[in-house]
Amino acid sequence: MAELIVALDVQSRAEAVEKVNLIGDAVDFYKIGLELFTAEGPDVVKAVKDLGKKVFLDLKLHDIPRTVERAVLSGGKLGVELMTIHSVGGKAMIKAAVDAAASFGAAGPKILAVTVLTSLDQTDLADVGIVGRTPAEQVVAMAQFATSNGAHGLVCSPKEVGELSRLLPAGTLFITPGVRPAGSAVGDQKRVATPADAVRDGSTHLVVGRPVLAAPDPAAAARAIRAEMSARM
Ligand code: C5P
Repeated sequence: MAELIVALDVQSRAEAVEKVNLIGDAVDFYKIGLELFTAEGPDVVKAVKDLGKKVFLDLKLHDIPRTVERAVLSGGKLGVELMTIHSVGGKAMIKAAVDAAASFGAAGPKILAVTVLTSLDQTDLADVGIVGRTPAEQVVAMAQFATSNGAHGLVCSPKEVGELSRLLPAGTLFITPGVRPAGSAVGDQKRVATPADAVRDGSTHLVVGRPVLAAPDPAAAARAIRAEMSARM
């Protein structure tokens, strides 16, 4: 059953705790990204965990294997459920992250790989030496590379998830941002899908930020998204 993760894109721990309390039992999984983590550090992760919630720590790690291994160990000690790495960090880095997660047993974080940032186009890829592949081909190649080296899942757009879920082994996690409930504001997202479409195409976790946090009643907005998700399950 696919899960809803709300992106806790706020700037302070106080605001994060306020939102989580306001949303209550309508959501039990939150994403903490670079903005909030850089502002408040591990304390904000602990605060959200202390409220009984699951945490996706989205720091998109990309460093030498030992450093990434140690960062995953720190995330595991905080009890986070999901963490992200960049697949271009290479085989040894991916394996170091997965091995560090495995040291916590089944309760350890699952490692998700970012393939190609959705902000990059063909010219951006050429600028960093990736030529001869379209961004879409690069996404598939990096997804296969990351999962064949142990990554538990991928962060991908809802437009990519259908193809990736057909190509990759059963059990691979697919985390998709860019989800918008039917009729809601798209904001700066360019390629969006509805919750029902994302689940139908194979998403295991939907990441939604503004449509929940900026709603007049965030708990009701989250419940409505969950209802849309279960309509296709
Ligand atoms: O507010 P919104 O629903 O657009 O938030 C989506 C979340 O997912 C944000 O935290 C954003 O940084 C993240 N994200 C994204 N697109 C990606 C990767 C991450 O929107 N390709």
